[in-house]
Amino acid sequence: LDALLAEGLDGRRVLVRSDLNVPLKDGVVTDDGRIRASLPVLEKLAAAGARVLVTAHLGRPKGEPEPKYSLAPVAARMAELTEVPVVRAEDLVGPSAQEQAAALAPGQILLLENVRFDPRETSKDDAERAELAAELAALTGEHGAYVNDAFGAVHRAHASVADITAKLPAYQGDLVRDELQVLKRLTETPERPYTVVLGGSKVSDKLAVIENLMSRADTLLIGGGMVFTFLKAQGHGIGKSLVENDKLDTVTGFLQAAERHDCRIVLPTDIVMASAFAADAEVEVLPVDALESGKHGAEALGLDIGPETSQAFAAEIAQAKTVFWNGPMGVFEMEAFAKGTAAVAEALTTTEAFTVVGGGDSAAAVRALGFDEDSFGHISTGGGASLEYLEGKSLPGIDALES
Ligand code: 3PG
Repeated sequence: LDALLAEGLDGRRVLVRSDLNVPLKDGVVTDDGRIRASLPVLEKLAAAGARVLVTAHLGRPKGEPEPKYSLAPVAARMAELTEVPVVRAEDLVGPSAQEQAAALAPGQILLLENVRFDPRETSKDDAERAELAAELAALTGEHGAYVNDAFGAVHRAHASVADITAKLPAYQGDLVRDELQVLKRLTETPERPYTVVLGGSKVSDKLAVIENLMSRADTLLIGGGMVFTFLKAQGHGIGKSLVENDKLDTVTGFLQAAERHDCRIVLPTDIVMASAFAADAEVEVLPVDALESGKHGAEALGLDIGPETSQAFAAEIAQAKTVFWNGPMGVFEMEAFAKGTAAVAEALTTTEAFTVVGGGDSAAAVRALGFDEDSFGHISTGGGASLEYLEGKSLPGIDALES
């Protein structure tokens, strides 16, 4: 970005791809972390006299406008968070965007409507994506430039993330730079012991990252809904807990491979079992070898790690020098099942280790549970993007900037 600033920006239109994919409830942003993380670059450009056009996605609309995925609430929140004037277009590259982009004054921000309202954004057809990229680029007029600051979206080979770099001089945003620096430290030179805490509901989402981390990390602590696939693979009854039966062999393989790699996989020893998936369900803490022995027998389902496990995980974290955490330990949105996630978050804030929280859900969890963001080493804005980086995959958004 400094290279672009050095060129001088007075009045130039700069198209910034940001990741503003934030959770909404009843049309209001419930976690503005990604908006706050995106503002520094937008403000820096505006302060340098650029006319700043922002393109971003929200959710996964099916290539046509859907009111519930409008970026209007994001624009409203953005305007509250910055002194820079924020205006909004009602479309992406249509008459509203063209008019607003033309009328935009230096030092102002224009937020274009959800880029995924246009099917060409995510199209598999190169020509279609290139066409949208050209239309986005055209909004910048003469001497336009492009900045990719959407770290959370760099793993997507989409028009506004990748193809656009063929249409405009392209630069890397500071958020992308900073995120990559942190993740590089995790993959190249982690101080040991290096402990990774993985949670979340789907083991299939995490297979590649588990496989990759086994040869890098010293300890893998596994919680969240995905743990039941591991417990079932070990022969435990798990009641009605979440399970991916087609992954039982794979996780058995992991447990064996971990030994070869000298990586310890630590699974919970106790679980909070509930009578139903409900905030007011009846709960019992049960040891993992007797999860079906409670009042609700095999009808119960596990919704959080138990207190003994929380303590054990916290002790592991306390001994580590580097910790990466992705995925909540339980259904933290319900108070009765938030303790495991809170215990891990707490352990991360009290250790001297270098700590990284990755993934939209875990980042939202630490904020929702009232933890101070500054007490973590780094909270990544990337969910899939940070995991794919740790998996060792190449990231189309980054490759496009480099080519
Ligand atoms: C995310 O939420 O991880 C990013 O914004 C990417 O969103 P996507 O998974 O819908 O591409």
